[in-house]
This record gives sequence, C-alpha cells and structure tokens, in this order.
Amino acid sequence: MLRLPRTVILSIAARPLLLIWLLSVLIAPGAIPQKIDLSVDASKTGAKIDRNIFGQFAEHLGHGVYEGIWVGPDSTIPNTRGIRNDVVAALKALKVPNVRWPGGCFADEYHWRKGIGPADRRAISLNPNWGGVTEPNTFGTNEFLDFVDQIGSEAYISVNVGSGTPQEAAEWLEYMTAAQPTTLAKERAANGHPSPYKIAYLGIGNESWDCGGNMTPDYYLDQLKIYSRFVRNFNPAQQDKQQMLKIAVGPGGDGPRWTEWTEAIMKAYQSHTWSWDMSGLSMHNYTVVKWPPSYASVGFGEAEYAQILKSTLEMEGLVSKYSAMMDKYDPQKKVALVVDEWGGWYAPLPGSNPGFLVQQNSLRDALLAALNLNIFARHAERVRMANIAQMINVLQAMIITDKEKMVLTPTYYAFRMYVPFQDATSVPVTFDGGTYARGETSLPRVDAIAAKDKNGKLWLALTNLDPNQRAEMQVSLNGLQAKSATGETLTAPKVDSVNTFASPNTVAPKPFSAPAQGGKLALNLEPKSLTVVSLEQ
Ligand code: AHR
Repeated sequence: MLRLPRTVILSIAARPLLLIWLLSVLIAPGAIPQKIDLSVDASKTGAKIDRNIFGQFAEHLGHGVYEGIWVGPDSTIPNTRGIRNDVVAALKALKVPNVRWPGGCFADEYHWRKGIGPADRRAISLNPNWGGVTEPNTFGTNEFLDFVDQIGSEAYISVNVGSGTPQEAAEWLEYMTAAQPTTLAKERAANGHPSPYKIAYLGIGNESWDCGGNMTPDYYLDQLKIYSRFVRNFNPAQQDKQQMLKIAVGPGGDGPRWTEWTEAIMKAYQSHTWSWDMSGLSMHNYTVVKWPPSYASVGFGEAEYAQILKSTLEMEGLVSKYSAMMDKYDPQKKVALVVDEWGGWYAPLPGSNPGFLVQQNSLRDALLAALNLNIFARHAERVRMANIAQMINVLQAMIITDKEKMVLTPTYYAFRMYVPFQDATSVPVTFDGGTYARGETSLPRVDAIAAKDKNGKLWLALTNLDPNQRAEMQVSLNGLQAKSATGETLTAPKVDSVNTFASPNTVAPKPFSAPAQGGKLALNLEPKSLTVVSLEQ
C-alpha cells in the first residue's frame, strides 16, 4: 500500500473545505472589497452645475398627468384645486427646477384653447400618439401653471410647431404672459389668474425630425426663425431676453441624420440676426439597448443589469460629440445643450396598455440616473438643462400612483440625494474607477463627482456598480480639512429590487458616515450602491 506523508493526507482531506471557503469568498456579495484611490482638489473649482439639469418632463401620456398629477377638485384623493397633495409634497422635496409640458409628441398635436375655461365646457379630444385614448383637456394651461407653482418649479412650455401655427403659439404666450388688458389677458383673468404667468423656458417643437412633423433641417430652421421671432413673452418682469430661454429641436441620437441636423441649426445660429435667437438646443437620448424596448424593468438578472448600465454610459459620447459640434459655431457656449428627454425605456409591464409606457423602476434605475447626472455635471459648461422622462407613472418615473396609493421609486431617491448639487460648483476629482465585468460586458466600476454648494460645503456623489463587491474608497483631500463624511447610501437586496405599494421601502436611502484622518477619508461603498456625502469640517 502506498503511504502518503501526513501533510499531504491532511491537505487532501481539507480540499473540499478549502473549495467551499474559496467559493464562498468569491460568490458572497461584498466579500472582496476593491480599493480605489480618489483625490479631491477642493482648492480648485470648475463650472456651475445648473440646477436645471434636474428638470422633469410631464407629458399627456398614460397616467402621467391624469391620475398622476390631476385627480380633479371633486376627487376623494386629497387635492388642492384638483392637483394631488401627496404628489406635490413628494416633488417639493426634490426641488424640481423646471417641468417640461405638455409633450413630447403630444405637444405637436396640442391646441391650447381646448384646455382653458370652465371644465365642463372643455373639448374632449383624442391622444393619437399614446394609446388613442380620449383627452379630456381638464388639465390645461392654468392647471399646469398652478401645479408648477404648487411644487415651487418653473414652466418649460413646448409649443406646437407640427400641427399648429405661429399665430396659435403667439396667442398662447399672450394669454399666459400679457399684463395689459388685452382680450386674451382678460380671458386669463376670468379663468382665475389676473397677473401674468412666468414662462421661463419655451421649446419650439419636439422631435421635429420625426413625430413633430418629419421636417427636414431647412424646413425646421424656417419654422424656428418664425416662432422665435413671433412667439413673445409679454410679462413685464421677463423683458430681458434671457428671462425666457428658447430651445430649438436638436439631435435624437447618433448617426448622420442628427449630425446633419445639428450642423444646420448651429450653423444658422452662428449667423443669426437680431430678429431671431435661441438659447438652447435640445437633445433626446433614451437608454434602450434594443428598439422596440424589450428589456424588462423588473425580474432581470445581473447580465441585463450590466448591459443597461453600459448602454446608458453612451450618453457621455453623445454629449461630447454634440458639445464639440456646438463649440465650432458657438465657442462662447451661449447656447445650452438641453437633454430634455433621457432615461431608461423598457418593455411595457405585462397587462398594461403598451401606449401608456408603464414600467417599474428598480435600484438599477437609481444608478442609471446617477451615472447620467454625473455626465451632465462633468459637462456643466454646455449641459445646462435636462429633463428625465418622465415624472410620474411613465417610463423612468419618480413616482408611481394607483388611485389613492403612491410610491416613491429608487430614481426619486437618487434625485433627492442629488439636491445639494443643484447650482453647486464643480470640484475636480481624479480616480481610476476600476472595472466591473459581467460576461462580455465591462464598465467602470466606480464613478464620482464632487461639488461645493453655495455655503462652501463639499459634497461627493459616488456609485459602485459592482453588485458583488464593496469598494473601499481612499479619498485624499486637498485644500480642505475634514473630520468626517456624512450622508446617505442607496442600495437594495437585488439589482432589480423595486418599491411597491405593499413594500414601499425596499429601495430607500440609509444614513452613512465615515471618519477622516490626516487629510484622508475611508469610504466603504456597498455593492450596487449610490452614496452622497458632505464633508464635515
Ligand atoms: O417620452 C416619450 C416620447 O419619446 C416623447 O413623447 C417623444 O418626444 C419621444 O420620442
């Protein structure tokens, strides 16, 4: 019989145990923390992160407006002049800087006169873009502007260029903004609002290369010049041109069609005369991966998690591309790049009306939102406005409602955590984020931005995309003495964890704190998490 040395016998006996230990270490979430060095140079500052990049979009689509915002004054759901109180309270906490309305594709078929006056005399029309349902027009101009006022936000109105006329749009602005006793101003007063409204942003058409009228760049440019000239804001408090920013239709993705479109608009802008102007160029970019949207919004695994997050990072390339193109014709960066539709667009939830664009909202969406907000912040000199699509019950929503019930989504919490970044000043950070790989998909594991708020407090936003491993951040601070970092972290049991009416706090922020020592801060980021902290001095 072969006699093996004792040590060899032991190691053979221990092999299964060793294997189990090894597997548990490799598979257990957060088992092997990755060390990442990040340095923050608080002695330097960059561009202001415009609060408007945290804008929202509320289209007449599915239950976005009706049920989501508007329940009517006679509803049993608590409301103020028809607008639900729970939604208003939740949105106030986000300090929503602006709301884009009424569309989207809906805007180019919207005729504002149908949405004013006594509710029982309003026309019932159709919404051919979104499910072909009837549009009661009970939520119209006065109701939208009341809503914006209730949440403490600004109005971004998209006027109808596709099926409307310059006269119709001009009269709409007169109705909303004229202070003098014109017939339209008196009509506004009769409808309950004697003083002129403030309209901060005006979108001239929507996706005019597609649902907004399939226009060529030259045809749209002619319309842009006409609308920009004649659709005036008469509010005496807004007579400085910069007080109502006009936003032209821009690209809707990558490719020669949109390159040509953007070139045409920006070239024309370069030689524009006193009689027309634009302050923003819109860009739309959804995270879809495959069209029509087929990825699930819930019940997906790590592979789809990684693919969607990889795909959302394409925003960086698009923003860089169109910023560079704009630099060519507008080197002083007078025209803002306005990403007024962005977010994850997934397959409609089974059983929902496909025209209503109903989807769930998971932890993945909160991380997706953070990655995009970071991209906008890094391009803050040019990207000065953005609107996530959409605010309530549609696509990547902040809030989901069902009759009297309301739930806040993971994306809502990401937006709430980023509030301190509104109008904060960028602070440079340097780091190597490492790599998170799943199958053939690999992407940066950690992302980070830093900014100083108006009180000089330094804030950091950090994402760890790796769903299996913690990230140990070694943060070195230059130009700042800090005792500790405190804030919140957002994570959940699974990459597709969601909040439901029955279980509303599955994905909700938890307090986070870490001490600093000798100018260094050790931040231990949980797997698949977003962390926002301020540094206490
Ligand atoms: O957000 C949904 C739709 O997507 C908008 O109406 C349109 O502008 C875009 O194509």
